[in-house]
Amino acid sequence: MRDRRMYYISKKKAIMTPATVFVSIFVIVYGSAVNALPTPVAGLSWTFYNTTCPSVESIVWQRMEVYLSADITQAAGLLRLHFHDCFVQGCDGSVLLNSTSGEQTAAPNLSLRAQALKIINDIKQNVEAACSGIVSCADIVALAARDSVAIAGGPFYPLPLGRRDSLTFANQSTVLANLPGPTSNVTELISFFDPKGLNLTDLVALSGGHTIGRGNCSSFDNRLYNSTTGAQMQDATLDQSFAKNLYLTCPTSTTVNTTNLDILTPNLFDNKYYVNLLNKKTLFTSDQSFYTDTRTQNIVINFEANQSLFFHQFLLSMLKMGQLDVLTGSQGEIRNNCWASNPSRSYSILDPEASQESASYSM
Ligand code: HEM
Repeated sequence: MRDRRMYYISKKKAIMTPATVFVSIFVIVYGSAVNALPTPVAGLSWTFYNTTCPSVESIVWQRMEVYLSADITQAAGLLRLHFHDCFVQGCDGSVLLNSTSGEQTAAPNLSLRAQALKIINDIKQNVEAACSGIVSCADIVALAARDSVAIAGGPFYPLPLGRRDSLTFANQSTVLANLPGPTSNVTELISFFDPKGLNLTDLVALSGGHTIGRGNCSSFDNRLYNSTTGAQMQDATLDQSFAKNLYLTCPTSTTVNTTNLDILTPNLFDNKYYVNLLNKKTLFTSDQSFYTDTRTQNIVINFEANQSLFFHQFLLSMLKMGQLDVLTGSQGEIRNNCWASNPSRSYSILDPEASQESASYSM
């Protein structure tokens, strides 16, 4: 318990904290908390930028405070962006690459928030101004997600850094093969999480990310309408009064509209998602299945009864997810711009000057 408190910041403290105080909180938090956490994967470390870009974490935090004090709902977009980055090809910033055939064009990514991508680009520019060519976009995505959770009221935790950016992105079928859909049941969800080394507890804890943010009717209309006829057909695991409101939000099977994922505290990172599960008031089949399935029901009940337990498990699972298939060392690159890979370093062997330039550039 004592260890846990070291890396928790209450919502009040996180929102009220002036940016300058970040550094002292940061030092206290990092001081000994890392000893209680799992060793980072090879190539990442708790102190990665300590000499090369010591201000990176405070720059990210300060920018996130600016953005989220203007609009706290953006926290959800940044948390989801990190999940979608890590589950497809690893946490390598591949989701950020802007291309007509990039990951952003795959169905599950169409509802990623454009503003989340803008925030990452803005932070990158601020970080570049302080230490050019040092910090990867993949690390910035991980830091922005971590800070979003803390500023929205969830746990703050040390983050191992040193991820590098991918040179390429995954194709659409790879995105679909790695991101589960909202109509999945627990068995199907396991088939996405297990190969990545994420167990049942990780699955239920990480899904607690749905304590903030919004969902489109199209993501839960399978619980309201018959998919072939479009006629009303209410999922038996939906609370009656909650379903009534969902029909108001999505009056037909083709309505384009959104609603909050957490009906109780939509913008606060807390354990109310699990309270909603017990009350049958969550949007997605995938969410509700955690309570109906006997393999996960007790995990839900424990997180519902104990927010500290959920916070502790959430940060442990985020640390696991945030280190999936990372590129490190000399793999990948440090992008100049998050939305594009760096200009090609290839050069003509007929042009020795270009070769010199290219060689020094690649250092
Ligand atoms: C377990 C499998 C998961 C499924 C099936 C799933 C599915 C979805 C879907 C369908 C949406 C709404 C998209 C829309 O309709 O616009 C959504 C939103 C969201 N998801 Fe998940 N998700 C899963 C896991 C996660 C994880 C692991 C996290 C983070 C740790 C996460 C964080 C979020 C957040 C924060 C939002 C709200 C985004 C916003 O408001 O912009 N999800 N998810």
